[in-house]
Amino acid sequence: MNFRLGIPTMRASTVLLCGIVLAHLFAAQIDGQRSRSPWQTLSGDAPLVIARGGFSGLFPDSSLAAYSFAMQTSVAGSALWCDVQLTKDGLGICFPDLTLNNASTIEFVYPSRQKSYPVNGVRTRGWFTIDFSLSDLNNVSLIRGIYSRSEKFDENGYSILTVQIVTTLKEQEVFWLNVQHDAFYEQHNLSMSSFLISASRTVSIDYISSPELNFFRKVAGRFGRDGPIFVFRFLGKEDFEPTTNRTYGSILSNLTFVKTFASGILVPKSYILPLDDKQYLLPPTSLVQDAHKAGLKVYVSGFANDVDIAYTYSFDPVSEYLSFVDNGYFSVDGVLSDFPITASASIECFSHISRNATKQVDFLVISKNGASGDYPGCTDLAYEKAIQDGADVIDCSVQMSRDGTPFCSSSIDLANSTMVAQTPLRNRSTTVHEISSVGGIFTFSLTWPEIQSLTPAISNPYRAYNMFRNPNEKKSGKLISLSEFLNLAKNSTSLSGVLISVENAVYLRKEQGLDVVKAVLDTLTKTGYSNRTTTKNVMIQSTNSSVLADFKKQSQYETVYKVEETISDILDSAIKDIKKFANAVVISRSSVFPFPDGFITRQTNVVERLHKSQLSVYVELFQNEFVSQPYDFLSDPTVEINSYISGVGINGTITEFPLTAARYKRNRCLGSKETPPYMAHVDPGGLLTVVSPSSLPPAKPPNPVFTDADVTEPPLPPVTAKAPTSTHGTSTSSTNAQAPRPSGQTRLTLSLRLSVFASLLLL
Ligand SMILES: *[C@@H]1O[C@H](CO)[C@@H](O)[C@H](O)[C@H]1NC(C)=O
Ligand SMILES: *[C@@H]1O[C@H](CO)[C@@H](O)[C@H](O)[C@H]1NC(C)=O
Ligand SMILES: *[C@@H]1O[C@H](CO)[C@@H](O)[C@H](O)[C@H]1NC(C)=O
Ligand SMILES: *[C@@H]1O[C@H](CO)[C@@H](O)[C@H](O)[C@H]1NC(C)=O
Ligand SMILES: *[C@@H]1O[C@H](CO)[C@@H](O)[C@H](O)[C@H]1NC(C)=O
Ligand SMILES: *[C@@H]1O[C@H](CO)[C@@H](O)[C@H](O)[C@H]1NC(C)=O
Ligand SMILES: *[C@@H]1O[C@H](CO)[C@@H](O)[C@H](O)[C@H]1NC(C)=O
Ligand SMILES: *[C@@H]1O[C@H](CO)[C@@H](O)[C@H](O)[C@H]1NC(C)=O
Ligand SMILES: *[C@@H]1O[C@H](CO)[C@@H](O)[C@H](O)[C@H]1NC(C)=O
Ligand SMILES: *[C@@H]1O[C@H](CO)[C@@H](O)[C@H](O)[C@H]1NC(C)=O
Ligand SMILES: *[C@@H]1O[C@H](CO)[C@@H](O)[C@H](O)[C@H]1NC(C)=O
Ligand SMILES: *[C@@H]1O[C@H](CO)[C@@H](O)[C@H](O)[C@H]1NC(C)=O
Repeated sequence: MNFRLGIPTMRASTVLLCGIVLAHLFAAQIDGQRSRSPWQTLSGDAPLVIARGGFSGLFPDSSLAAYSFAMQTSVAGSALWCDVQLTKDGLGICFPDLTLNNASTIEFVYPSRQKSYPVNGVRTRGWFTIDFSLSDLNNVSLIRGIYSRSEKFDENGYSILTVQIVTTLKEQEVFWLNVQHDAFYEQHNLSMSSFLISASRTVSIDYISSPELNFFRKVAGRFGRDGPIFVFRFLGKEDFEPTTNRTYGSILSNLTFVKTFASGILVPKSYILPLDDKQYLLPPTSLVQDAHKAGLKVYVSGFANDVDIAYTYSFDPVSEYLSFVDNGYFSVDGVLSDFPITASASIECFSHISRNATKQVDFLVISKNGASGDYPGCTDLAYEKAIQDGADVIDCSVQMSRDGTPFCSSSIDLANSTMVAQTPLRNRSTTVHEISSVGGIFTFSLTWPEIQSLTPAISNPYRAYNMFRNPNEKKSGKLISLSEFLNLAKNSTSLSGVLISVENAVYLRKEQGLDVVKAVLDTLTKTGYSNRTTTKNVMIQSTNSSVLADFKKQSQYETVYKVEETISDILDSAIKDIKKFANAVVISRSSVFPFPDGFITRQTNVVERLHKSQLSVYVELFQNEFVSQPYDFLSDPTVEINSYISGVGINGTITEFPLTAARYKRNRCLGSKETPPYMAHVDPGGLLTVVSPSSLPPAKPPNPVFTDADVTEPPLPPVTAKAPTSTHGTSTSSTNAQAPRPSGQTRLTLSLRLSVFASLLLL
């Protein structure tokens, strides 16, 4: 089943229908799962998923599209969250802030109606809701408020919704109102409590939260017996609660007192799982257990797939949710999320699954330079982590040292994988046009002992977005030889095989006198892979067909042909040629789902064609950083994997974060008869139909078609004895170890830190 994305217009009735149909379909199955689940929540029920402003991670906060998409992609019974604000005429609207300038077009519609008021004692300028009647807001539309999110929905004209309209959307869903600024409205003679009480006569409000104590005093007892559940919202521990003279930190020390007016608390993540100043997790506090003892439910705010999370989670939002709901000690009672699909899947599909639960789907999890998202690539630590994380196959990108030792390194240029540029060995820098147009410190210019002395460097492909991988381990581990790699793999009980990737074989033979094919074959024999001492499968990968043909001639190992370029189709004649020397093919993610402007345009039939010829298809490269994805995957690496596995049926994922792919295999939602909406694969091109065409650049020409001419290569040349001086080439300026790479496939967003900077510039 696909996501239903047919909501370009604002027809509430159709949207509503989709939501209800889906909710009915999945309600029964979810109930069944919940009754078995040992939740450590206060009630024993699964934690509540609360969609902040709807699916505000994708669509403008509090828009109809955001609310309906939240309902379509979340577990049944999730809550729709509305930040309620009052207009000049005392009516309630859903909007994330009491000023309208952040996430609407108000400043263009009413350029001169900016005002300034004190808000909790701080003078604030902006377009306040209290200065506009509901009808004034008719021609104001909702846009993104967070710059790292797509602006492509800003021209869709989503209107500001009243509280009543949002409640009519919900049907089975739960409705949560947040009252952030009751005191402010009171100062302006508008009564939030009167509005809420009168609204509650026509719509059912399930939860009301507020960070102001006085608000609860005002509404206490006024809703009747079936009234909403009251939740006290904690802001920063040092912040002053506006209606008393106490900090939130001091209120937290008396939960018995909070229980006198509320049945739950809503706290930032750090109240429960604090971070150190380097953004790594510290041990949990006892807050959840303490609050449960006091009879209070605990809801947690601040979940979003596209903001910085603790490095401990390796950019995987599911891991973060699991640490709050399935840590063996406690579970929070609800999570407030901008991406409710991820919260729903974490709770319903990934919680309480043991590491040795049965696989629900079979495909190969192939590492890329080991777990190179967590450790410097191709180091002992990266490989050990990949094995521990459940990779089926670990990979060695084999390189040759000057003295002929084959070893693993993500790049033939050591400046791109180690700190060599900071050592005296940087004077071995040369320019080799067969390999790269820029200079490098190539593996064949250093001896193996010299290479072993180098400090490896973690790769940071998204440095340009200010995203860095595991800084604590950025120089950890050591590079290992191919034979050490093969012994490590042989030793593991969980691995099914190894993948050895061979590139630049021609240059190494002709210019450096190094025979990488022979080195690989000899090492495999020496380590017992050729005579079946080990049952581990060996795959040899290359982008050069003649290299694979050479391996085939000399051995029985499986061969994997890597198509380097992004392609839109592949000719049958090319497939026929590939079949002659390869068992499997590696293609890029965008050869399956092209996404030229950050949105998937369609699904190619490359995988289908290769499968028809009995070729296995592995897809590269899966990364957890949300900027690596098109928007269609909702900044969730699990949604992406799911779309390639259950949507397309590829045979393996090549990933820098094996944990995420390996965990996906055991998710219980794949085993269910009906696929729940939060485990649905995306509809290729579906999201693009919701984007206003005027905000897209002109269509780009399609990617090339792969032909037999692309496959055919001349045979490998003989090994030429190397001239003794060839490592001492012209010295070029040393290359930066991790300069940002041009990344045509990443979308143009700014990281949160950059966006804060950008917004400061705009003020
Ligand atoms: C919005 O409506 C107001 C009056 O209701 C009008 O003055 C203004 O020109 C309109 N703006 C736009 C952009 O339509
Ligand atoms: C808008 O509000 C959100 C949420 O409070 C905030 O994260 C964001 O930085 C704001 N954007 C601007 C441009 O002020
Ligand atoms: C609120 O009402 C009081 C009494 O009716 C009046 O004195 C005050 O000026 C009003 N405040 C505002 C902000 O309108
Ligand atoms: C806040 O503190 C001041 C003195 O520090 C006191 O006069 C005032 O009554 C306090 N307000 C509240 C609401 O407790
Ligand atoms: C906590 O609050 C309760 C109820 O308001 C009160 O009786 C008690 O004295 C408070 N305890 C502390 C330590 O402040
Ligand atoms: C995993 O399986 C082993 C035996 O196969 C068992 O001893 C162990 O308890 C299982 N672990 C979990 C978490 O279920
Ligand atoms: C090493 O990195 C530089 C800078 O990013 C790049 O231009 C070069 O092509 C890389 N070299 C290799 C062999 O990948
Ligand atoms: C193989 O495993 C054993 C026991 O787990 C360990 O002692 C040994 O060092 C391992 N060898 C390699 C090459 O990793
Ligand atoms: C296979 O090769 C390894 C390494 O050369 C050797 O130790 C082992 O005895 C061989 N086994 C057989 C069955 O030939
Ligand atoms: C690869 O995947 C296709 C479709 O999912 C399947 O038919 C085929 O058997 C798989 N190949 C292998 C070797 O598992
Ligand atoms: C592949 O190898 C052949 C020699 O066998 C060589 O002529 C050709 O340039 C190589 N192709 C690439 C893309 O490196
Ligand atoms: C590099 O530097 C070392 C000393 O640090 C020197 O012995 C060697 O000759 C230099 N090599 C080149 C190619 O300049």
